[in-house]
Amino acid sequence: MSEQNILDLVAGYTEVRARKEERERTGSDFQEQRGAVAATVVQLHPKRLALEVVEIIDETPSTRTLRVRAADGRDLPPFQAGQYVNVFTDIDGVSTARPYAMSSSPARRDHYDLTVKRAPGGFVSPYLIDRVEVGQILQSSGPMGTFHHNPVFHGDDLVFLAGGSGGAPARAILLDILDRGMPIRFHLIYVNSHTDDVIFADEFRELARRHANFTLSEVITRPAADYQGLTGRPSAAMLAPLLGELADKMFYICGPTPFNESCVSLLAELGVKRRRIRVEANGAPKSPDTLPDWPQGVSMDDEVTVTVRGRGSYRARGGEPLLNSLERNGFGAENACRSGECSLCRIKLVSGRVFNPPEAHLRKSDRDFGWIYSCVAFPLGDIEIQL
Ligand code: FES
Repeated sequence: MSEQNILDLVAGYTEVRARKEERERTGSDFQEQRGAVAATVVQLHPKRLALEVVEIIDETPSTRTLRVRAADGRDLPPFQAGQYVNVFTDIDGVSTARPYAMSSSPARRDHYDLTVKRAPGGFVSPYLIDRVEVGQILQSSGPMGTFHHNPVFHGDDLVFLAGGSGGAPARAILLDILDRGMPIRFHLIYVNSHTDDVIFADEFRELARRHANFTLSEVITRPAADYQGLTGRPSAAMLAPLLGELADKMFYICGPTPFNESCVSLLAELGVKRRRIRVEANGAPKSPDTLPDWPQGVSMDDEVTVTVRGRGSYRARGGEPLLNSLERNGFGAENACRSGECSLCRIKLVSGRVFNPPEAHLRKSDRDFGWIYSCVAFPLGDIEIQL
């Protein structure tokens, strides 16, 4: 039997062959299709988005939500609840960027809500809160990040420990569950310093009243004398009765870094396995000199010279993340998470030493060949880098 005859016996072969011959006869539009595929990929995973601010919502005295739409009027790319976009800014001549989690539901493709809390001593958050106006176009990355709810793998019993601005991704996950009618229990333990810091307070309370699968526990760490609810820093004794049975629960933690670390320890104390805990990274450490491997005798205030091979040099404080000082001195580097996770800000360390905190998820090959993640790298003396 010839090879051709054998193939004729394979189920579906003759139909596929007929379609192929038809395409060849009538002219294939393969090039056109390939263009369409590329356009779809770009729409779903764009490198850059132009976002028009269509509304600014006052949430608390220190927090505003920028409601943004695609400047071209199309639907925004889909995202997974908990993800962020990296917002690029040009502030007084300094080009920089910061990641902000969408606080809106992924079910809404006509807008994203970007909820911005003023960071004490911050550079970008005061700009976004005080100077951005309705009608302004912001540039951002597409949706990114691994801190998101996965309905397939994360089970149906979720607990979100949020501190301050951590309420933003918590809201996105909650709205995702409610909008899609997913049979998932969601318990939000929301910790804030003062009652007027609680973002989305009325909305969360109302949703908790209306939906049996959503439980809200509010905790205020610095309450007024007459405050009736839960108070004080979370402890194992506080969390144990709130959480009840721990088996099969999935935990999400998002807040300031000390809050995140404390929550991880508390959950470990209660017997929660680390693989059941997801933690959102939250920027470079503010006080790297307090971390175990920071070298003795080096001060965060030490001045160092950073030389960018072939392009110039500048002076910087050792305690400032390298990416920040690069941007302030006009040297850009691609970036997104600014927390040592995505590796986009990777640059080559030619000479000198930097401190890599635990946030820097460097691969072995990065360490072996002198690559560093500039968003979380701190110079420990004069260094030379290559961009
Ligand atoms: S920006 Fe993601 S690792 Fe530095």
